[in-house]
Formats: sequence, structure tokens, C-alpha cells
Amino acid sequence: MTHNDHAFVRGLFNDTAPYYDTVNRIFSLGSGNWYRRRCLLRAGLKSGQTVLDVAIGTGLIAQAALPIVGAHGKVIGLDLSEAMLKEARRRLDIPLIQGTAETLPLADETVDFIVMGYAIRHIADLEACFNEFRRVLRRGGTLLLLEVSSPTRPIFKSTLAQYLGRGVPRLSQWVTRQPKLRSLMTYHWETMEACVPPPVILDTMARSGFGPLVCEGWFDLFRSYAGQRQGSENGDSCH
Ligand SMILES: C[S@@+](CC[C@H](N)C(=O)[O-])C[C@H]1O[C@@H](n2cnc3c(N)ncnc32)[C@H](O)[C@@H]1O
Repeated sequence: MTHNDHAFVRGLFNDTAPYYDTVNRIFSLGSGNWYRRRCLLRAGLKSGQTVLDVAIGTGLIAQAALPIVGAHGKVIGLDLSEAMLKEARRRLDIPLIQGTAETLPLADETVDFIVMGYAIRHIADLEACFNEFRRVLRRGGTLLLLEVSSPTRPIFKSTLAQYLGRGVPRLSQWVTRQPKLRSLMTYHWETMEACVPPPVILDTMARSGFGPLVCEGWFDLFRSYAGQRQGSENGDSCH
């Protein structure tokens, strides 16, 4: 599988968009909306800001951002897949753009906050992508990335492999009789296993002009990475 080939990724999400929220509920292990909201707040999202949700999917992160930015703020969504955008449209009344993270159809320095959730695995050239985020962000604007990382504890990793990699995909196909649901789950597990390591993400953010960087982990699986465009001091931390 080529997880960062645009045509492949677009086809996969176009085929499986109606099942995404169900799969996401299982794979997020119950973290859900409170986790998305917590990450946005901890990264400093504020009332009145303009947010770009890159790879918005069905709109789960944008939905958590809307009450934080309030009536004076704005949330814009962008995604490669028209079917995912259609799902987002059912959930949210916000501007939605079909496009790629690597070439954002937005003017320089026009947004305060960029968030991209669970799409780093799809980006072939991370540095070029983060440079593009930097171009669109206002000076001092925030980049927040949510991603999974490979569990550090072997016992947890092998339990997850059995549960998410084998058990859940088989069971869900058996219950729903939907082969596409199984392929989306298998894909989710494969991309979780092949995720970009945290030091690579942090190094690339730093090289692209973000700092100071804060990386926080939750449940030995989920990580958030936040940094400001053109930070002055480099007090990076990862815990
Ligand atoms: C795993 S889903 C995450 C969706 C959403 N951010 C969330 O947290 O639920 C990945 C999304 O990234 C989108 N995507 C993948 N590669 C992309 C790219 N290069 N540019 C824009 N969107 C992309 C897919 O279409 C899909 O909607």
C-alpha cells in the first residue's frame, strides 16, 4: 500500500467515508471529542481566531474547534477526498475546500491556527508540507498536529496488534458484512504501525520554522505536536 500516494488515499477515503466515524470511535479507544478539545485548548486556540483544519475528514476536529473560536472566529476545512468533505458538510456549516495539504489554496499569512489530525502518515514530503503551513500562518500562529505513535511498551503494542490489527477488522466485517469497512480498519492499523516517529516530526517542524515545540503523549499511543510560526527561543520538550 502507498499511504502517501494522493490517488490511492483519495480513492480509499472516497470509498469508505460513510464508515469513517464508526472506525474512528473504535480506534480512538474512547478518547474522542474531549481529547480533540483538550489538544486545541492546550495548543492555545482562542476565541476569535481563524482555524484551518487540514485533512478535515468528517469534521471531528473542526467540530471541537468551533465552540472555542466562537461567533467571531472562523473554521475552514480542507481535504483531498470529496466524499469525506461531503460527510463534513453534513456535520458542519463552514467553508470547505477540496485540496491537498502540500499546496494550500490560501493566501500568505491568512490564518491564526492550523491543525492537522491523523494525516502525517499520508504526506510524502513533510518538510515541504510544513513550509506550506508556515506560509499560510500569520506570524506567531500555531501549528498543531495530532498523530498516533508506536507504543513504547511491547506488551501494549502486541495487545493492540491483536485487538486493532486482527480482532476488530474481522469482527466488524462479520457483523456488518461490509468488506470496505474491513479494508479501512486494516489500513488504519497498518498506518498506525508505520507511523512517523516523534523525533522526525519534531525535527521537521523545527527545520520548517516552528518553535518552541511541545509534544505531549496520551495512553502511550496518541501524540500532539504544537509550535508557533517563527518562535524565537528553542525550548522544545517531548514527554
Ligand atoms: C485518518 S483521516 C483523519 C480525518 C480527521 N482529521 C480526523 O481527525 O478524524 C485522514 C484524512 O486525511 C485526508 N488526506 C490524506 N492525505 C491528504 C493530503 N495530502 N491533503 C489533504 N487531505 C489529505 C484524507 O482524505 C482523510 O480525510
